[in-house]
Amino acid sequence: MRTDRTFTMIKPDAVANGHIGAILDQIFKSGFKPVAFKYTYLTPELAGKFYEVHKERPFYADLVKFMSSGPIVAAILEKDNAVADFRKLIGATDPSKAEAGTIRQLFAKSIDANAVHGSDSDENADIEGSFFFSAYERF
Ligand code: TYD
Repeated sequence: MRTDRTFTMIKPDAVANGHIGAILDQIFKSGFKPVAFKYTYLTPELAGKFYEVHKERPFYADLVKFMSSGPIVAAILEKDNAVADFRKLIGATDPSKAEAGTIRQLFAKSIDANAVHGSDSDENADIEGSFFFSAYERF
């Protein structure tokens, strides 16, 4: 299992608020290199599948609705220790608890609309990257 890749989405709130450029700037300045990029949409069905692990959680229905409410940017990023370093860069799930200077502290308004996704393990980075990109695109 490789340890130098993670998967991210710039979520509908951040896209709608015009933050794609500023967020990508922070990501690249932090040393992450782009492997694959896509400006796309999640249908409710696809969002439900992507977040299936949360399907018993009380926030699942709202999460699916939110994630399919507008366009997103999906990307695979490369850097040593990618998963942990990216989670540090984006900050806590709840932006009110995220460290100063993190992407969620800067660009997210609430725990449910929290600007960015970052994979939580090397295995999930691979699964999530494969969800959006073909083997050829992830080469
Ligand atoms: P989670 O995997 O716990 O957080 P993270 O994205 O930081 O890995 O949750 C997935 C998403 O579900 C989270 O980004 C936003 C949403 N969510 C809520 O809307 N309410 C909540 O109470 C939690 C824990 C998550």
